[in-house]
Amino acid sequence: MAISRRGFMGVMGGGAIGAAGLWPRRAVAAVQSLTIQPASYAVLDVPTQGMVSAFADAPPPVIRMRQGQPFAIDVTNATPDYTAMHWHGLRVPNAMDGVPYLTQFPIAEAETFRYAFTPTDAGTYWYHPHCMTMDQMARGMTGVLIVDEADPLEFDSEVVLNLRDFRLNSAGEFIDLWTARGAARSGTFGTVMTANWNQLDLHDVPTGGLVRLRLVATDTTRIYKMIVAGAAGAVIAMDGHPLREPVPFPSAEKPLILSPGQRAEIVLKMPDIEGAEVTVLTDAPGGPRALAQLRSVGANLGRALADAPQLLPNRVSEPDLTAPRVEEFVFGWTPEGGPPVDGLCGSLGYAFWSINRTPWQGDAAEDTPALATFQKGENVVLRLRNESPNDHPIHLHGMTFRPISSNKRVLPSNWTDTALLLREETIEIAMVMDNPGDWAFHCHVIEHQKTGLAGFIRVL
Ligand code: C2O
Ligand code: CU
Ligand code: CU
Repeated sequence: MAISRRGFMGVMGGGAIGAAGLWPRRAVAAVQSLTIQPASYAVLDVPTQGMVSAFADAPPPVIRMRQGQPFAIDVTNATPDYTAMHWHGLRVPNAMDGVPYLTQFPIAEAETFRYAFTPTDAGTYWYHPHCMTMDQMARGMTGVLIVDEADPLEFDSEVVLNLRDFRLNSAGEFIDLWTARGAARSGTFGTVMTANWNQLDLHDVPTGGLVRLRLVATDTTRIYKMIVAGAAGAVIAMDGHPLREPVPFPSAEKPLILSPGQRAEIVLKMPDIEGAEVTVLTDAPGGPRALAQLRSVGANLGRALADAPQLLPNRVSEPDLTAPRVEEFVFGWTPEGGPPVDGLCGSLGYAFWSINRTPWQGDAAEDTPALATFQKGENVVLRLRNESPNDHPIHLHGMTFRPISSNKRVLPSNWTDTALLLREETIEIAMVMDNPGDWAFHCHVIEHQKTGLAGFIRVL
């Protein structure tokens, strides 16, 4: 249920101590904690000040939980701004989704909010604030979240790469996090590409071993074209879910497209020679750029790719497409003269973008009605039409869908929560609306989201 800004202001006077107390007491494993705080880290040669993380001097941690096991985490805000934490791709109860005003009050300075849920899906996800997103995410607050399989799988090694850019000058200082020019086009790109906040992230892995490589695109803007050089392997999952239809192993000829918010899991077999290197690159203007290197160390395990453990599919309801309800959503510019978007905690002061020709109107529920209302269990096809000349990674909270058609290309129909909509492309996605609540629906180029390309759907 949406919470109005007016309601929120009213509560503030009384001291809005998180809604943690509203969550029923239940048996949970130890409560983890995460303190969102100012940080510094030497992305270039000298420490960059003004970063945001969950540590003072390191990137946000990889958070792990186990499929089917209750999980709880206390998120404390040690910044002077509001925040709220979102678990991207996880199908959680609406009240745990971390969207300010839509599902909870923002967490004010020095407040703590307890998020508690039981992850149903194994796989690779991520977390990020959904309040002051342009500021907090661009300054570093994006982390990887892994849900381990209920029955553990054995790989010889795991490498997790949190891929993102920073906008720094040569002295390592932040420059404008975004520009109006960028926000009105493809977004404002970072100047320094990193994996785990490092320009070249190094990992020692067993010679001849099977590596589970998790790639997570947490950047606010960049659509990555990933390449893995020096090893054979296979893509085994996208966006948290094992593949239903194959995706080619990332190569220079066929790079793997990862748009903001997307994840890939790859199994690769390290060469049988000690010291051999496997490089993870992204195609960039001026040629591929190495982001991480895996080096074979120790005795040769001599594994074969065929020995790799198989992922089990997560339980996602298969939509019945005999007579689905079809709803169209149009993503484009904002008709001239709209007022600036005052939404989702922290306005950028512009309304460049819209869904169904209406930009996000504001934080209060009465300002922004649901884009569409569905009944729980409804089988739907959502037609996503991009009438702009820019690409948009469109993300839906709370539920999982799969693309079923495109007017431009053949798309693998894999379960996802974030679908890249190319310029002037129309794709159809299919799903069962099986999770009640108000679910944010927006572009994951954060400047687009913050300048209007955002809305929500309601499932009753
Ligand atoms: Cu990854 Cu609405 O977010
Ligand atoms: Cu999300
Ligand atoms: Cu966009």
